[in-house]
Amino acid sequence: MNRPRTTVAALAAGLLAAGTILALSPSAEAASTLGAAAAEKGRYFGTAVSLNRLSDSTYSSILNREFNSVTAENEMKIDALEPQQNQFNFTTADRLITRANEMGAKVRGHTLAWHSQQPEWMRNMSGTALRSAMRNHITQVMTHYKGKIDSWDVVNEAFDDGNGGRRDSNLQRTGNDWIEDAFRTARAADPAAKLCYNDYNTDNWSWAKTQGVYNMVKDFKARGVPIDCVGFQSHFNSGSPYPANYRTTLQNFADLGVDVQITELDIEGSGTAQATTYGNVVKDCLAVTRCNGITVWGIRDTDSWRASGTPLLFDGSGNPKPAYNAVLSALNGGTTPSSPSSPSPSSPSPSSPSPSGPTTPGACSATTSVNAWTGGFVTTVKVTAGSSGLTGWRVAVTLPGGSSVTNTWSASASATSGAVTFSNVSYNGRVAAGQTTEFGFQGTGSAPSGAPTCSAA
Ligand code: XIL
Repeated sequence: MNRPRTTVAALAAGLLAAGTILALSPSAEAASTLGAAAAEKGRYFGTAVSLNRLSDSTYSSILNREFNSVTAENEMKIDALEPQQNQFNFTTADRLITRANEMGAKVRGHTLAWHSQQPEWMRNMSGTALRSAMRNHITQVMTHYKGKIDSWDVVNEAFDDGNGGRRDSNLQRTGNDWIEDAFRTARAADPAAKLCYNDYNTDNWSWAKTQGVYNMVKDFKARGVPIDCVGFQSHFNSGSPYPANYRTTLQNFADLGVDVQITELDIEGSGTAQATTYGNVVKDCLAVTRCNGITVWGIRDTDSWRASGTPLLFDGSGNPKPAYNAVLSALNGGTTPSSPSSPSPSSPSPSSPSPSGPTTPGACSATTSVNAWTGGFVTTVKVTAGSSGLTGWRVAVTLPGGSSVTNTWSASASATSGAVTFSNVSYNGRVAAGQTTEFGFQGTGSAPSGAPTCSAA
C-alpha cells in the first residue's frame, strides 16, 4: 500500500533535481490551489491584476500560487494604451504579458471598445472619425498582442441597464452597427483570439438587459458576425444579487454556440453567506460545459475597486477567507483538500485517505512544486504525515548561492539564504496519518533543487 505514494515522492525528488517544473497532485487527491483545481476541470481560474501591486510580495506570491489566467484591471483599457490618437503606449501592459508567460497563465484582454475610460481625444470625437478611430484602436492593439491573448473583451457594457436596449454613448451614436463592426475588425486583426462581448447585470435570466444581450448574440450567430464568447462580469451585491437562475442564463447563452466566461467576479459580504454564494457560482460554471473560466476582480479585499464590500477571496493580510475554501472545494467537486487554507486541515474529508489507508513511512515526507521565472521563483511544499501522524513538522531545504527567500506563507523560516528550515505555524502542525498540509515560499534567484527533508517536531 505504501509503494505508489513513496514512488511518487522519489520520482518527484529526482525530477526536481533535474530542474523540472512540476505540479504534483496525485489524481485521487483534491488540488490545493484555485488554478490547479480549475485546470483539473478543464477550466482556468483568473484574477484582475493591478500592475503597480506586483512589487507587493504578498500580492505577488498569491498571484503566482493560485491563478492561471490574468486580466489587466486598467492597463489594457483605451486610455492606457492610446493616450494620444494613434500614439500607443504598450510598456506597462506588456509587463503583464511577461508575467503571465512566467506563470504559464492565459491572458484575457480587456477591453477594446467601451464608453468608459476613453482618452480625452476619443471622448471628444463622434461620427465617422470616431468609428475609424475605434477600428484603428482595435487593429493596432490586437496586432501588437497577436497570439498572446486567449480572449478579448472586444466590446464592453454596450447595453442599457433598464430596458434591454443599447446604452447611449458616443460609440452608439456612430450607428447601431458599431458592435458588429468592432467584432469584424477584431477577427481580421487576430483570428486566433476568442472574441467576447462583456457586460454586467446580465446574470439574471429574467432581466431585460440579459434578454437584450442574448438577442444580440443570437442575431450575430444567425448573421455570421464573428463572436466566440460572452463575458458575465458578475459583480454581485445587494442591488445586483446572485440570481437563482444564474446557471440557466449561462446555459442559455452557451446554447447559442458561444463560450461563456465569468470575467469580473466579486461578491460583497462576508463569512458563510458570502462563501456559499461563491461556491454556488463555481458550481454553476462547472455545470455548463462551455463555461470555460472564472476570473475574480482582484486578489485581497483591500485590492478591490469596491474594498468596503470585502468582496474577494483573500483578506487584507492575504489570508484565504471562507469564500476561498468554498471556491476551492466547489472546484474540487465538493472535496476539501488538506491544505492550510481548509477549515480543519487535520480532519479527513470523505475522499481523503483514511488513517488506515496508504501512509508515508517515517515521520513525514515533503514534495515540492516550483514556479520559476527569470530572477525569481515560488516553491509550494506539500508535507505528508507518516503512519503516526504529526503534531509539528520541519522541512529543510538548501538554497543555491545568491538566492534568498523573500516571503513565506503557512510556515516560518529559520533563515533567508543557505540552509533554511521551515517549521509549521500554529494551525497546521497537527496532521493526521496519511494527510497533507501545504506551505510555500517565494524567493529571488533560483529555487532549491534537491529533495527537501521532512522531520517531526
Ligand atoms: C474598474 C477598475 O476595477 C477600477 O480600478 C477602475 O477605476 C474603474 O474600472 N466593469 C469593468 C471593469 O469592465 O473594467 C471595471 O474595472 C469594473 C466594472
